[in-house]
Amino acid sequence: MTSQVIIGNWKMNGLVADARTLARAVADGVSSDTGPRVVVCPSFVHLSTVAAELSGSAVALGAQDCHHEGRGAFTGDISAPMLADIGVRYVILGHSERRAGHQELDEMVRQKAVAAASAGLVPVVCVGETQDQRAAGQARDVIGYQIEGSLPQDFAGIVAYEPVWAIGTGQSASIDDIADMMAFIRAELARQFGEGGKTMQILYGGSVTPRDASAILRVAEVGGALVGGASLKPESFLDIVRASA
Ligand code: G3H
Repeated sequence: MTSQVIIGNWKMNGLVADARTLARAVADGVSSDTGPRVVVCPSFVHLSTVAAELSGSAVALGAQDCHHEGRGAFTGDISAPMLADIGVRYVILGHSERRAGHQELDEMVRQKAVAAASAGLVPVVCVGETQDQRAAGQARDVIGYQIEGSLPQDFAGIVAYEPVWAIGTGQSASIDDIADMMAFIRAELARQFGEGGKTMQILYGGSVTPRDASAILRVAEVGGALVGGASLKPESFLDIVRASA
């Protein structure tokens, strides 16, 4: 069985000293035997500091976004080769906070996933419906379209299902809702990608805490978790890591 993947998305939090302390605590708390794969994704400006702290540990470094071009006149942007060059191995793409706050459309996310893979990074592409879309009975359609539009045909990365209404609310989706959407996403991946879609890893994200991590991580098709708020507290994050397989 493939190991689960636990990814901490630190979002836009902390200063250099905080990132260093958090990275050290996570690095010290994760053993290098074959357990879950553990990834932390600090902000861009903290990547090098965190890379130094993680050096020699079992924890991998991730970023929260990348540009779809490898280089050029794109003021303020960061390319996938730049990330790979400083030791980044994973990159979160199409997070709902970027889709909403930076008008990222499926096609842009797809181009970023191509760029990430070309640079040797593992793209972690996020999909998820809003509360209004769910209430209108559109959750499956929205996720199906996001998968179709955001994942390149040769996609070999990770998909993260993050219902927007569960992010940062302290209220994760119910186990039944997660099970239902995971089964749907697996079926969609298999339909759209054939054999590759049957084994693609799918994470759940949205208010995962140590309290509900075990139950969520035991749901069929859940290949790990994308953790926001709880990843800023080393003990909480490590408890979630310990709850995974
Ligand atoms: O990337 C992480 C997700 O947005 C989940 O965040 O655990 O704070 O709800 P959260």
